[in-house]
Amino acid sequence: MLKQMIKIIRLLGLRRAAAMKKHHEEGLKYIRGYAATTCWWILDVNGVIDRLEQAGSISIKELIKNKGWRPDILDAVLEYLDGIGLISLDGDVFSLTDSGRVLAAEPRGLFELTYAYEPCFANLEALLTGEKVFGRDIRRRITWVGVGSGRLCEQLPYPIMRRMVLDHGRRGVLDLGCGDMALPIGLCRMNDNIRCHGIDFDPDMIAFNHQQLAKQDFNGRLSCSQADMFTLENLPDNLPDFDCITACDTFHEYLQESERIVALLKTLQRRWPNAMFVIGEFCLQNPVWLRRHPTASLEHHLFHQLSRQQIGSAQQWRDIFRQADLKIAEENVFDMIGHGYFALKSA
Ligand SMILES: C[S@@+](CC[C@H](N)C(=O)[O-])C[C@H]1O[C@@H](n2cnc3c(N)ncnc32)[C@H](O)[C@@H]1O
Repeated sequence: MLKQMIKIIRLLGLRRAAAMKKHHEEGLKYIRGYAATTCWWILDVNGVIDRLEQAGSISIKELIKNKGWRPDILDAVLEYLDGIGLISLDGDVFSLTDSGRVLAAEPRGLFELTYAYEPCFANLEALLTGEKVFGRDIRRRITWVGVGSGRLCEQLPYPIMRRMVLDHGRRGVLDLGCGDMALPIGLCRMNDNIRCHGIDFDPDMIAFNHQQLAKQDFNGRLSCSQADMFTLENLPDNLPDFDCITACDTFHEYLQESERIVALLKTLQRRWPNAMFVIGEFCLQNPVWLRRHPTASLEHHLFHQLSRQQIGSAQQWRDIFRQADLKIAEENVFDMIGHGYFALKSA
C-alpha cells in the first residue's frame, strides 16, 4: 500500500495528490448521502428498522423468504450499509451499529419525510421543464408525510400543543389534517377524559389510520374520518361538542389563498362557538440566520417549494388570526426551528 502511495505521489506530486483526495472526500459526502439514504429507506419503509429495534438482529435468509426479495440486490444493499458503518453483517444475520441506532432515533422522521417527497426529486427535471406539475402528475407519498411529520412533531411541537390543550381543560378535540393522528393519540394517552376525532381528506391516510385504530382506539375515545376541512361534510353522528380545534402543519398548504384560511376559521367559530384553537405552523426563518446555520429547514423549504407549498412568517399567521376575529391567548414561536404554536380564542 505504502509503495503504491509513493508511486502516486511521484506521478502527481504531493500537493496535487493531497488536494485530489480532499476534493474527492468533499464530493463523497453528497454522493454517500444519496446512496445511503436510498438504501436506508428500503429498510425503514419495509419495517426492517422496526424489527431490528425489536429483535436486535435479523436473518438475511428469513428476510428474503418473508419479503420475496432478490438475494443479490439485498446483499448489495446490506454490504454497502455495512461498509459505511450503519449495520453490522455477521454471516447470515445483521444488526444496527451505534450509528445505525442514532439514525433510527431522532432523525428517523426526516428520512421518512424525505421519502414522502422523493417523487419531486426523482422528477426534478420534468418539474423544471414544466413537462410535469406537482399535484397533477406527481404526488407526494401521503402516508409517509403523516408518519414522518408525526414522528418529528413528537420531539417538540406536540408536547407544546398538547400542553396548550390540556392546560385549558379541553375535552373534545377535532384535529384538522390529522395525518397519522400522532397528536390526538398522545392526547388520549395523556388524559382518560379526552375524546379526539381526526379528519384528513386523503383516503390513503385515513385507510392507514383505520388500521391503527383497529389495534388501539382508547376505548372509542379516538376516531377519524375522511373529510375536507373546508366543508366538513360526512362527519360521524356520535361526535362530542368540540371545545378545541387543533391543526398542525395543515393550514400552510393553503397560504397562497390565505382568505380561505380566514373564512375557514370564521366558519369553525360559528359552528363550535366555545372552541379554542391550537395551531402549530411553520414560520419563516430569517434568511441571514439560516445561511449562517444551514439546518434541516433548508431541505424542508425545498420540499415545500417543489410541491407548491408556502411557508408564512409568524406575523403572517398573526394577521390571519386577527382577520378571523381570533385573539392569541398563548404564543410560542421558535425561530431556531422555524415553527410556532398558537392558542387562540374568539375575540
Ligand atoms: C403536513 S401534513 C400534517 C399532518 C399532521 N397534522 C401532523 O402534524 O403531522 C398535512 C395533512 O393535511 C391534510 N390536508 C391537507 N388539506 C386538507 C383539507 N383540505 N382537508 C383535510 N385534510 C387536509 C393532508 O392530507 C396531510 O395529511
